Amino acid sequence: MRTHSGDAFGGFTTAGNPVVIGAALAAHAARERSAGRAFEIGNIGVATGASMDGILADAIAVRTPYQSAARLRARINAGQCRFFDAHLSHLTQQLRYGFLGRIDWAVVQAAEIAPDGEALLTSAIGGAPTFCHLADRVLIELNHAHPAALRGFHDIYEPADPPHRREIPIYRASDRIGSSRLRVDPAKIAGVVECEAPDEGAGFDPLGEITDRIGANVAEFLAGELAAGRLPSSFLPIQSGVGDIANAVLRALGSHPGVPPFEMYTEIIQDAVIALMQAGRVRFASCCALTLSREALRHVYDNLEDYRSRILLRPQEITNHPEVIRRLGVIAMNTALEADIFGNVNSTHVLGRNMMNGIGGSGDFTRNGYLSIFSCPSTAKAGRISTIVPMVTHVDHSEHSVQVLATEWGVADLRSLSPNERARRIIERCAHPDYRDELFGYLKLAEGGHTAHTLRAAFGFHERFQETGDMR
Ligand code: COA
Repeated sequence: MRTHSGDAFGGFTTAGNPVVIGAALAAHAARERSAGRAFEIGNIGVATGASMDGILADAIAVRTPYQSAARLRARINAGQCRFFDAHLSHLTQQLRYGFLGRIDWAVVQAAEIAPDGEALLTSAIGGAPTFCHLADRVLIELNHAHPAALRGFHDIYEPADPPHRREIPIYRASDRIGSSRLRVDPAKIAGVVECEAPDEGAGFDPLGEITDRIGANVAEFLAGELAAGRLPSSFLPIQSGVGDIANAVLRALGSHPGVPPFEMYTEIIQDAVIALMQAGRVRFASCCALTLSREALRHVYDNLEDYRSRILLRPQEITNHPEVIRRLGVIAMNTALEADIFGNVNSTHVLGRNMMNGIGGSGDFTRNGYLSIFSCPSTAKAGRISTIVPMVTHVDHSEHSVQVLATEWGVADLRSLSPNERARRIIERCAHPDYRDELFGYLKLAEGGHTAHTLRAAFGFHERFQETGDMR
């Protein structure tokens, strides 16, 4: 068991990160390296993006639980950084349980600090409350790019640990259960860095035809569930994952006439949510980060009174908590890198080998949602990769948790189907036409058993890609 994992950074994705301290740390690390001295940090938390993981990449020796910067990803996959992937709801409790060792520094961003150490956090909460509570020393970036009028947007609550844990008393997405400020022991505050530097801002590609079609398919499916009475007429809170597909699905849900205005109980909110709030289609969003473009965050900050009753920021342990997700009946919508014909999903590993970003909160929501949906385009790399394969090369979400799969071709509803029935449905509804015959061919070759696999050919698609650069 490790006794020291490193330092923990508040913020989440590209929001609320201590960017000025991150930049100073990266510059210090570079100076030390060029002077021939080793300088390494263990980096705990979900402060990702170019302005944190990107510039710190060469200094990070240990990283958990999620990252998404190209340079750090390359180092992880070259074996130069020890990354361990974890469910985001687990991180802070595992730190409290002592599973991950001690935290030396907690570095967090605040919009205001009171003399008694109460800090007003900014555009994200992430794991900051637990980081500050456990760390030996706390460094605060007092960043005036975030307004003090954010007071009231945060709901900070840290559960007690077993055997003293009680229920988390959230019964509706908008319930407040904690405090609007983070209490930091003043004796631990080793420094305050005052600055004015905006969030990095999340970038989005313009929606393409394929992401639009995926979004439309998921929206149509959910409208059908509502019409069939399998969803309550008031609808249920939505969780939506990261990236362009998640944005497209939300946009389609927001414009579908068969879907009523809805609430979100989710990990991050992206630009699409703000647009849907303006249109009256999203009534409320509980999240742990405003992962917005700079323009969208500016709009929220300029109109804080309009959003005050519509957005609540919580720690990642609460936004992603299985108990609350199950109680509220959250509809989980996440993205796959690849799915197999039986419904197992790989969200993290390219060709079973190279880490993309990490499981993030996708497992927290998928396993506990009222309904668990995965989406992806049916192909990647200009058609050379089928994302529907005989067997996934890494399993993040097993067939037991994945209920619905959607691509631009359609939706496979897997509920109540046996594995072999699932396989036929996924191939017919979701696979790209270029790959359907071959996938059916695999099923025929593998005929028999409860799950029609033939181990000799299970990775045939992947092997062909490695040999020829094309799965076809
Ligand atoms: N094999 C190899 N590469 C693949 C692939 C496959 N089966 N499927 C996609 N890719 C490549 C794409 O070509 C793209 O490559 P590029 O960056 O060189 O262009 C890259 O992977 C990302 O694919 P894209 O379609 O742009 O995906 P995305 O931005 O929608 O992200 C995930 C998809 C799965 C990586 C992302 O959703 C993720 O990290 N998920 C895990 C965490 C999570 O779900 N969090 C949400 C919980 S709240």
